[in-house]
This record gives sequence, C-alpha cells and structure tokens, in this order.
Amino acid sequence: MSIHFDPAEGRFALLTRETAYHMQLGPLGHLLHLYYGRRTEGSFARLYPPRDCGFSPNPEGLTEGRGWSLDTQPQEYSGSNCGDFRLRSIELETGRGVRGADLRYARHRIEGGKYAIPGLPAAFDGEGEAETLSVTLADPAAGLEVELRYGVFPQRDVICRSARIVNTGDGPLCLEKAASACLDLPFGDWDLLAFHGRHAMERNVERQRLRHGVQTLYSRRGASSHQMNPFAILCARGADEDHGDCLGAMLVWSGGFRMDVELDQAGSVRLVAGIQSEGFRWTLEPGEAFETPELLLAFSHAGLTRLSHLFHRFLLRDLIHDRALSGPRPVLLNSWEAAYMDFDTASLLRIARGAKDLGADLFVLDDGWFGHRKDDHSSLGDWTVNEAKLPGGLAPLIEGVRALGMDFGLWVEPEMVSPDSELYRAHPDWAFTVPGRAPTLGRDQLVLDLGRREVRDWVFETLAGLLRSHPIAYLKWDANRQLTDVYASDLPPERQGEAAHRYMLGLYEVLGRLNDAFPELLIEGCAGGGGRFDAGMLYYCPQIWCSDNTDALARLRIQYGTSFGYPPAAMGAHLSAIPNHQTGRSAPLGTRAAVAMAGTFGFELDPARLTVAERAEVRDWTARFRRYDRLLREGDYYRITAPGDERGFTAWETVSGDRTEALLTVVLTDPEANPRPLWLRIKGIDPARRYRLEERVFFGCARAPAADEVREFTGGELLYGGMTLPQLFGDCPGALLHFRAL
Ligand code: DGJ
Repeated sequence: MSIHFDPAEGRFALLTRETAYHMQLGPLGHLLHLYYGRRTEGSFARLYPPRDCGFSPNPEGLTEGRGWSLDTQPQEYSGSNCGDFRLRSIELETGRGVRGADLRYARHRIEGGKYAIPGLPAAFDGEGEAETLSVTLADPAAGLEVELRYGVFPQRDVICRSARIVNTGDGPLCLEKAASACLDLPFGDWDLLAFHGRHAMERNVERQRLRHGVQTLYSRRGASSHQMNPFAILCARGADEDHGDCLGAMLVWSGGFRMDVELDQAGSVRLVAGIQSEGFRWTLEPGEAFETPELLLAFSHAGLTRLSHLFHRFLLRDLIHDRALSGPRPVLLNSWEAAYMDFDTASLLRIARGAKDLGADLFVLDDGWFGHRKDDHSSLGDWTVNEAKLPGGLAPLIEGVRALGMDFGLWVEPEMVSPDSELYRAHPDWAFTVPGRAPTLGRDQLVLDLGRREVRDWVFETLAGLLRSHPIAYLKWDANRQLTDVYASDLPPERQGEAAHRYMLGLYEVLGRLNDAFPELLIEGCAGGGGRFDAGMLYYCPQIWCSDNTDALARLRIQYGTSFGYPPAAMGAHLSAIPNHQTGRSAPLGTRAAVAMAGTFGFELDPARLTVAERAEVRDWTARFRRYDRLLREGDYYRITAPGDERGFTAWETVSGDRTEALLTVVLTDPEANPRPLWLRIKGIDPARRYRLEERVFFGCARAPAADEVREFTGGELLYGGMTLPQLFGDCPGALLHFRAL
C-alpha cells in the first residue's frame, strides 16, 4: 500500500520507496499540504503553527481565530477570492456572477492502478505498481467540484497529479484558470532551474535564486516551445549533480503553459503549474467536466543526476507508448541536410544506397515531396506526391529503398496549410484566421484548426491513406510555426477562449488514432527541431528531433540541458556534414558521431560527399552504436561536466542498471596549451567490483595520444580516485571508454 488515510486525524500519506507526500484536512475541510520530500515518518504539524499574520484574512467559524489564514496555510489546490492572496490554482465566474472558489473536502477514494485522463496523454502503470488517490473538493456557492487525483508510483518515486473540474451547479460556469496542481513548500531556500532557449538552441540551463514575488516560466505560443520547456526544478541552494534536495515538476502537455513559483511574505514557496491561462476561457454547462493535463513530480535527496534518473526511467517505462518498438530503434538517414528540397527519385536512391553503406536501417524522405513544393512557400496540405520530382509517386522510391534492405520513412507537417495550396483554396475556414483581419504567417504557412472534427478526420484519413497504400515504417511529424490568429470558425463568440486548448486536444486525438491504427509505426516528433520537446508529445512519439542545430558542439549544450528531464533515448540526434549548416563549424567526424550516439544516432548528410576513409569510419561508429544501443537506451545517464564549465571538456556516461557496464564519452571543447591533466571520476559503478577497460577510442586527435596500457581498475579506484586521460590534441577531439565488470 502506498496510499494511507488516517480518518481520526484526517491525514493522507503517499509513500514511495524514497519519498513521502503528506496532506491533512484543515479545521474547515481545506486540503492542506504538509510535506513532500525524503521518506520519513511524522505528523509535520509543527511546520505550520497558528500565527496571527497581519493582513492575512481569517475564514469565519474557526476556534483558532486570527491564527489561521488560507493566506499562510499550505494548500493542495488554492482557491481564489477567498482569503488566499498567493498564486491561484483556479479562477472562474458562474452565470450568476460568483467569482472564485473556496474548496473544501467532500469525499475521497483510494484505488489500485493509475487513473487515465480522457482525451489527454497521461502516465500508465507500466509495471502494475501504481495506486490512485482521488480527493474531491467542493464549493457549493460556485456549483463546483474539483477532483484532485494523485497517481503514486512507489518503485519509480514519482507522483502524478491532475485535476478534474466539474460544474455541479444549475447554470454555466466559466473557467478562466485551471491549473494541474499546486505545491506549497514551507521554506524558500531554493534555486529554480529552468530550461529556456530559442529555435536551434533549445533547453539552455538557467539556475537562479528564488526572489520574493512570482517567477513565471511560460509559453504563450500554443506549443510548449523552444523558448521555455514545461519542466522546472527547485533545488537546495548548495545542491549539485550528486548532492542535495531537488524537486522536479514536468507537465505532460504540449500547448501553451504556465509554471509560476512564488516566494511569499512568510518565506514559503508555492508552485502552480498547468495550461496557459492568458486567453483561456472554457465554459462548462451543468454536469460537464474539464480535465487538466498531468503534472509529474519527483524528488531526489541525492542531487540532480538522481532526479534525472527518476524522470528518465518513468518516461521510458510509464509514459512513452513504445508498443512494438521497445527493442532497438532504427539507425536512420534523414534526407533534409543531404538534399533539402532539391531531389528526384534517382538522387534519393543514390543517397539511400549511401545510407545503407553507412549501416542505416531506415531512409527518411524529408520535406519537399508533395504538391508543387520547391521551397517553403507552398503546398502544405496537399499531401499528394510531386510527380515532377518523383515520377510514378512514392512507390518506385520505396521499392528501391526496401530492395536495399532498409525501411522507408516520410516527413509530414499535417497541422499546417500553405495559403498557396489546393487545401486552403478549398477550405480557407479550416485555418486559424480572425475574421476581417489579415492573418500572421509563420514560414509562410497557417495552422489548421484541429479543434474541428472534420479537420481532424481529414488529417487522419489523409495520413492513414498514405500509410495504407505504402509500406511506411516511420513518420517525422513536423510543425514549423506556432499559434496566432486563434479563432475557431465553428465556435460561438463566447467560446473562442477554448480554441487553443481544443486545438491541442485535437492534435492528441489524431496522434492517438494513428498510433492505434498503425501500432508498428514509429512517429518521431519535431517542431522546427525541439519546439515541442515535452512529455505530452513523447506519449505518442517515442523520439523527438532535439534541435535543428546539428553542430556537435552546440548539441553538447542542447542535449545536456534536455537530459535534466528527458532520456537520451528520446533525443533525435544525427551525425551531419561539415562545415555545419547552422554554424559553419567543422568538428571532427568522431566527435560528431560520439555526440549523435548520446541520442538516437543517425545521419543528416549525403554519404557521397564523404571520402572512402570517412565512410569506413562512420561504419565503425554505426557498429559501435549498435553494440552499445541497449546500454544507451536502458542505462542511467550521468552528466559529468557541464558544457562550457571551466574544465574545458564535456563528459557524460551511461551505466547499466546492474552496474556491470559503463560507457564514458569525453569531448575536449576548449583545448589549452600546456594543459592540466584531464582528470575525471567515473560515476555510478560498483566500488567493490573490478572493471576492465574493454574499448578505448580516441577521436578527432591531430596527434596520437600517449599509450596507456593500464586496462584493469577497481570500481572504487575509478569512482573515488578517478582517472586521467592522456592529452587530447586537436580541434574538439575526444575519447570514448567502455568498462565492463569482471
Ligand atoms: C524543420 C525540421 O526540424 C527539419 O529537420 C526539417 O524537417 C525541416 N523542418 C523541413 O522543412
């Protein structure tokens, strides 16, 4: 049993292997938060002693009188307009003009298994360990019930939360904010880690001390965005990769979002996370319910690496619908940087033959194969083959690729329409545009309103038609702009505040239908690279193209930032050509390959432009990736240094669950003359075992590193003493070391 209720004390406890989450019913029935952290016994009552706090109002009917205020008590789901001036979890107005909510306990239920959320991606119970607590809070004055759901995964050390908001009144109720969860922490001595970025430079890590007031992480873009990821960490001020309390919050949501963190007058902290509330307005008729997306919570008392392991394992085993794909993922060559939109069947088959020679399993035809698309100004929506480029359609190309012994994959951008397209000319009202206003274009395209059933059906049928008529093993699902001009032509004026949310629900529905109808299909998510790299998309797409930036050194930073929340096995990463198409840099081939191996590994180049020797070297890397694929997919990922730190090298490592294998990669990003020894500790291995260095590869070195014949080590020697690598001389050289326990 991981969920406990003590009726005498009105107390709930959610227990996982290493964490505890305690709640208490307050004197008037409010659901109060007591503690979330390292597992321990206790009542935690002393954390919130009654105190008269000036200008914090007191609800009527309390014996504690002025000592008790919702403004200072920790809440599980804060109301509004009822005496708590801190961040609100819910805002609403009823048909009678009642604003806000004062939520008090009505009932609760404890069940085996993990709750599902109708219409939304949510964690499932991969290994049959979860339990669910549902606590229903009510506000009769507003005609409202809020069911707070807690999915507890005791072995994974993860707690999922979401809220179901029901109109129990007799008139309409208009929601203006509906957060997934609220979490109050009694003290504010935290740093906030957020993951900001931009197109082609996503998920940079920013750590800052919490200030008084509210710090907001958000996207107003209708997509989770390149600019800010819907994932945040609160960590103790001195916490680092290996030490200290760290609390992670990750939204399973791909649309606009908002995560607010408030440090209040009492020095305590509130986190409220959920959908973007600006512009949101959702009407519930009597009896109707609104489901919020899920928030995943995990806590580590042993630093950031451990927190990342909790999220990685959870996403891989309890959230990503891997279906038939739980084995190795295909090594793919994607045609984008090899050919852009300039190709024909013969040139693609030439690239495909090159891909086969490099060891690829899958050839992917990227943008440019449909309508009359020759550049990005036209044809989105016209998903029929451009016969000028591909005479006879896709079939000859697919047959040619399959004859080489590879699978075929195809790029699509199904959420979009070009104004210059047959689809737009036939259905201009399917795109988001505000009547009477010239629309805003992004990459010369508009967004189809997936909130409309006929649009969803059309998208599904169009893709299903392609998939039924061709053996297509993989889709790259791209989305190259975000939402503006949001106006749903099928909704009445008072419901326009629902349009952006309905769009995302529609996208999830289409992806879910495709996954159900084509269970063998692998969909790789993409949104101009990593513009929608989130747990919501991962539910449907086991891997996501991490960034449009394929430069190996830039990727070190992007993949490092991404790894705080998301597993390397989900990060689309390819070895690309030099000079790099985004930065102009020419990193050595081995460095490019080693960095791609920290993700899904594949190619983004024309093999014909490689020399014979380079092709042989790439083949070696492909074979190496296959040897370590399982370790990389299933092992625990350790960040050893941060890109750009003063040591001048970036290192990371993967260790198998049983600690019998470790694969270490080092890239020297900032070579120095007369360098200090390149020393580092190997992490995660067993100090009591002996390890043999089975493979050691130096790459990108302009001068052969000094030979070092020591091949056997004790685990303790590597863990505590570390090891020193010979000097790596060159422009971004590196080393890869594989240890195996004897
Ligand atoms: C953006 C993607 O991230 C690229 O990989 C490529 O597919 C282009 N779109 C094609 O338009």
